[in-house]
Amino acid sequence: MKVTARAHTNIALIKYWGKRDKKLFLPYNSSLSLTLDAFYTDTTVSFIDQKEDVFLLNGELQSKEETQKISTFIQRFRDLSSLEKKVKVESWNHVPTAAGLASSASAYAALAMALNELFQLSLSKEELSIYARQGSGSSTRSLFGGFVEWQKGTKQDGTDSYAVPILAPEECPVGMIFCLINQEKKKISSREGMNRTVETSPFYSGWVESAATDLVQMKKAIAKKDIPMIGELTEKSALKMHATTLGANPPFTYLEPFSWEVIRKVQEWRQEGHTCYATMDAGPNVKILCPKEEISLLQQKIKETFPNLETICSLPGSGAQILSIEKNEKKKGY
Ligand code: ADP
Ligand code: DP6
Repeated sequence: MKVTARAHTNIALIKYWGKRDKKLFLPYNSSLSLTLDAFYTDTTVSFIDQKEDVFLLNGELQSKEETQKISTFIQRFRDLSSLEKKVKVESWNHVPTAAGLASSASAYAALAMALNELFQLSLSKEELSIYARQGSGSSTRSLFGGFVEWQKGTKQDGTDSYAVPILAPEECPVGMIFCLINQEKKKISSREGMNRTVETSPFYSGWVESAATDLVQMKKAIAKKDIPMIGELTEKSALKMHATTLGANPPFTYLEPFSWEVIRKVQEWRQEGHTCYATMDAGPNVKILCPKEEISLLQQKIKETFPNLETICSLPGSGAQILSIEKNEKKKGY
């Protein structure tokens, strides 16, 4: 059997930054994101008669290290189903890999979705988000479309740390413009960056405290569809997250001078009356949150101000889904 699943990336409006348990990927704070339709991962899985799992990304056979990560992830599905079969994973990222555009989020959500079907486990999306989480934290949220909350949970075993949908994509009043400042693979992964921040930044406790209050406010803003309030909270959460890395030892930042130029412009446009807000993840790319109706106008403004800056617009995207199931029926011999 060959199963193909698709999951879209998501960008956090209230960021996940820091793990209280690195093995189980349990976060210190709950987060909230928007799933987007512009970027996604398609992943096909099938059983193979080989000694090891095989992992191809964008048509290229992956290193032992990358394959090991995938094998550890698949092992949980093998354990659940008691089927000890090896798996071939063929994945295509329609998003730059490891560039702060959330390839790991769509990757593990698509893989979890596909493995659920291959091993015939019938897990719910909520349950699958618990497994996806253990591949990459942010992938928890990509199981669902629209606005999604990843509830941090309090249990030590992580069974209450999962994603829940907050608002369906068609109901979400905002979209995002991705400003592709630099698509190279980042030097400090989000995993390494958040661990260093938790361990060494004196600003980290302030982050955890304010993320909790920001989340409460964000859910109120979403319930009212109050775009300025959603946007203000989004930009503040991103800036607070990036501030924590400057306090780390050794200090670091994902933002480049050009990222700041774009952020400053967004703030200027806001003062001129436009509804737009910036957010950045573990990379220099700036994403601009704005009302759906203003996307084209703002993209035009970006083009006029920064003619060489590549932009991609995105509307809210749907949750992870199975694209196809191919059954390899053996021909009957007479
Ligand atoms: P990003 O900003 O792209 O999410 P991360 O450093 O958080 O960057 O994650 C990138 C890592 O995610 C890659 O190095 C790889 O290990 C994993 N990854 C990305 N795409 C896939 C995929 N399609 N299937 C499995 N793993 C993937
Ligand atoms: C800044 O989910 O990539 O994008 O759990 O270690 O795989 P791991 O980290 P990852 O971190 C995402 C960090 C972020 C914020 C967010 O998406 O919430």
